[in-house]
Amino acid sequence: MPIAGRTLPRNDPRQYDDLAGEWWRPDGAFAMLHWLAAARAALVPPATRPGAVLVDLGCGAGLLAPHLSGRGYTHVGVDLTRSALTQAAAHGVTVVNGDATAVPLADGCADVVSAGEILEHVPDWRSAVAEACRLLRPGGLLVLDTLNDTLLARLVAVEVGERLPTVPRGIHDPRLFVDDRELVAECARHGVTLRVRGVRPEIRGLVGWLVRRARGGARPARRVPRMVPTWSTAVLYQGRGVRGG
Ligand SMILES: C[S@@+](CC[C@H](N)C(=O)[O-])C[C@H]1O[C@@H](n2cnc3c(N)ncnc32)[C@H](O)[C@@H]1O
Repeated sequence: MPIAGRTLPRNDPRQYDDLAGEWWRPDGAFAMLHWLAAARAALVPPATRPGAVLVDLGCGAGLLAPHLSGRGYTHVGVDLTRSALTQAAAHGVTVVNGDATAVPLADGCADVVSAGEILEHVPDWRSAVAEACRLLRPGGLLVLDTLNDTLLARLVAVEVGERLPTVPRGIHDPRLFVDDRELVAECARHGVTLRVRGVRPEIRGLVGWLVRRARGGARPARRVPRMVPTWSTAVLYQGRGVRGG
């Protein structure tokens, strides 16, 4: 897929370097990640103890950070992409350059692990799930969102989504999308009882945002689309689960 003048294979992580200037543009190529970060943060309660740690797997440029402000966590972000981590650090994230399938952090170090829009980018998502669960202390919370391994998700997120300004072209490889039932089973194997629910952008907000973008609005929208729960997990879904123990 051609991005910023060069052609890279689908899901090639170097795309994030080419798109480095987009992360913090609220109407940019990563706009929907901002909406998802707000919805993911809503699943995270305030910390219950001093020194609580939230590990953000595949943190990108740290879009979760503003939503965690004042909740009492040290926000530790793990990512492969150095250009993204530089921006995350500038937003107060303690950054670790590493792979979500082999995280250089201790067992049980995290009160919360967040895995937002990362599993569908990892060829071995089961290893990333094992790592997420390993990092959680007993009673710790896992929050995540990802794309389901369905034809509808391929249609909506890739065939349609990548033609809209909400999703960068070529960023997904639909062969990596994650079946929700397999994800729940994998979490259970690692001691985390995960519940999933579908989410989608609120339609009025999305249409208003797209129209504004198409008209070339110079300033960011006053109201950004909210992600809302939906009955089906067939496209995009959130998960929330607690590690037993
Ligand atoms: C779609 S972005 C999501 C970023 C962030 N979680 C958010 O929602 O704003 C995917 C991120 O995962 C990172 N990534 C992809 N594969 C990875 C891996 N195996 N280990 C760590 N990070 C990875 C990419 O560098 C990118 O920053």
